[in-house]
Amino acid sequence: MFSFFLAALFVSAQAHSAHFKLADKFIGSDFFSGFDWKTFDDPTHGRVNYVDQQTALATNLSYAHNTKFFMRADAHTVVSDDARGRDSVRIESFSAYDQSVFILDVEHMPAGCATWPAFWSLSQSSPWPQGGEIDIIEGVNLNTNNLVSLHTIANCTMPEERKQSGQTQSTNCDTNFNFNQGCGTSLTQSNSYGSPFNSNGGGWYAMRRTQDTGIQVWFWPRNSWRVPLQVRYPYIFEHIGFGTDNWGEPDASFPVKQCDYSTHFDSHKIVFDLTFCGDWAGNVFASAGCGTSTCVDFVDNNPDKFKEAYWEINSLYVFKRV
Ligand SMILES: *[C@@H]1O[C@H](CO)[C@@H](O)[C@H](O)[C@H]1NC(C)=O
Ligand SMILES: *[C@@H]1O[C@H](CO)[C@@H](O)[C@H](O)[C@H]1NC(C)=O
Repeated sequence: MFSFFLAALFVSAQAHSAHFKLADKFIGSDFFSGFDWKTFDDPTHGRVNYVDQQTALATNLSYAHNTKFFMRADAHTVVSDDARGRDSVRIESFSAYDQSVFILDVEHMPAGCATWPAFWSLSQSSPWPQGGEIDIIEGVNLNTNNLVSLHTIANCTMPEERKQSGQTQSTNCDTNFNFNQGCGTSLTQSNSYGSPFNSNGGGWYAMRRTQDTGIQVWFWPRNSWRVPLQVRYPYIFEHIGFGTDNWGEPDASFPVKQCDYSTHFDSHKIVFDLTFCGDWAGNVFASAGCGTSTCVDFVDNNPDKFKEAYWEINSLYVFKRV
């Protein structure tokens, strides 16, 4: 009886929190119709040659069957000096989303020396970073702990102490501050990125963005017993929608206290990419324990070192705030 009353109180106290309904889902070949294969030069100066969808299909760098979607780097070819870089894939959703929840079920992510994969979202406003950038999964080389970060225009900072399990790395989201470091939180779970993530069967990442809570990211490893139902079985909620009140403390949280939501964030497209070397992975290649050659030589001459450089996605659901 007593606990019944507590539950009733709890429900009414939460009555005003956000509710989300299905906007889009991507499983298997849905990615081929819902995403655009981008072929421009990597803006982060990576040793990469992003190929179009037709080429990616022909070379099996992108592949789907009923329940899986793969995106990978070429792991067969020695790259010639005058090439743009190693063949790889960068895809961007056709649709853009504002207040929403993304739920990504991922089995395997690109890992290894020289790699720099990311799952993120980006405003279509210009110039960058007008409208903001949200990096949900990102890291380089042999990293094992995921870094979540935001990149924005001026006047967006984060308190050092927040309700998050992760560790604050930097608090100013303004890209003009500290060479565009952004405001970042690194996750404490050492299977949240790279090969430990993969050997554990990956897991689930969820990102929520609302004007009242700001931006939150959660990670649950494959073997976690705490995965919320809405995350493990999003298809159950396709028609009825859900709230996120039972998801527990986020692993990374970016509240709106010192960062006005609507002037810093608008609708974002979703991006998956996989580059090599460049502004981040390249600059820390040696200190990451990746050897004494240059990062670019490593990428060009060691195709077999890129066998683990692939995304294997089970599903991506987008629920929109209603
Ligand atoms: C293409 O990639 C998929 C996924 O890794 C694999 O199962 C399949 O055998 C590959 N096909 C070819 C022709 O290599
Ligand atoms: C940031 O805040 C300062 C001080 O209020 C203001 O002068 C400036 O225009 C703001 N910049 C942006 C990009 O909003």
